[in-house]
Amino acid sequence: MQQQNTLPIEINKIKSSKIDQVDFDNLTFGNVFTDHMLSCDYVDGKWQNPVIEPYGTITISPGARVFHYGQAIFEGMKAYRDEQDELWLFRPEENFLRFNKSSVRLAIPEVPKEVFMNGLLALLRLDKEWVPKGHGNSLYIRPFIFADQVGVSAAPSSNYKFMILLCPVKAYYKGEVKVLIAENFSRAANGGVGAAKAAGNYGAQFYPTNLAKEKGFDQIIWTDDCSHQYLEEAGTMNVFFRINDTLITAPTSDRILDGITRKSVIALAQHEGLPVEIRKITVSELLEAAKNKSLKEIFGAGTAAVISPVSGFGYKNDYYDLTEAPDSYAKRMKKSLLDIQHNITEDSFGWTLKV
Ligand code: COI
Repeated sequence: MQQQNTLPIEINKIKSSKIDQVDFDNLTFGNVFTDHMLSCDYVDGKWQNPVIEPYGTITISPGARVFHYGQAIFEGMKAYRDEQDELWLFRPEENFLRFNKSSVRLAIPEVPKEVFMNGLLALLRLDKEWVPKGHGNSLYIRPFIFADQVGVSAAPSSNYKFMILLCPVKAYYKGEVKVLIAENFSRAANGGVGAAKAAGNYGAQFYPTNLAKEKGFDQIIWTDDCSHQYLEEAGTMNVFFRINDTLITAPTSDRILDGITRKSVIALAQHEGLPVEIRKITVSELLEAAKNKSLKEIFGAGTAAVISPVSGFGYKNDYYDLTEAPDSYAKRMKKSLLDIQHNITEDSFGWTLKV
């Protein structure tokens, strides 16, 4: 599949690329940005034509509503370079649909598909040299929208800015992570914004995660807001449990993000004949499985981290160690996914889009 660009996009190119100043072997996730960025304003009731210009500082009034009411959403997606130097996006349509779903929940006007997709493709084609080589390396794409109408009355903004930034990245987490099961905190509630990629969902995780870090954990496994018995997500990722040979993950809901990596892992596991159950899973079931050794693996799945294996988890005052399974599903799923993303194996699902 190749998408044609017909949208008028103003392009102001950088005079001289910064690419030679970047140490691609030592990238910290999300700290290095490419030469260009895209922006598009919503004013007078409609989205204007996008502009691509050199990456740089923007000016926003301190009265802009985003600072006062957090009316902001984002997406995370990636572009990959294959061995023939072709560039690929992975399931971009899914990101576009979820971007607008998040916008609707935050009372932000939806972005037209051609602005999102054609704007993204034009930006990627301009900064194509920045997509790193190597299995697992990629260009992280961060589309986002924020409310920039000035005024502190608590009402939806009438103006917004949609932007796309690009960051060359390597792995998100270095190695396995230790997680703490939440006893009191939750990331989302029924009727809330947990299913949206609302910026505030992520900001609200920092405090409980800092407390977990003080106890020696890297991330939290979030539990439901009422009983704290249902295991829902891990850090900024969806979470999978392997009990005996069955892969289990919670169903999506108001509280659980419809993760694109999550649904790709489910489809791949089913395609490879692994038993998969999409059902609620409780803390008690997990503790029981850990004690009787039927718990073989836990891993997080998300765009940034891809697949992130868990080395052990804490609950109340106990710690449960997980030794790596010899036939690790986490490793297997990660390889299957990356092989499709990097165009190494045939994409029989029709997930990839050539840039
Ligand atoms: C992603 O995986 O794209 C995320 O949303 C995680 C991000 C907060 C780094």
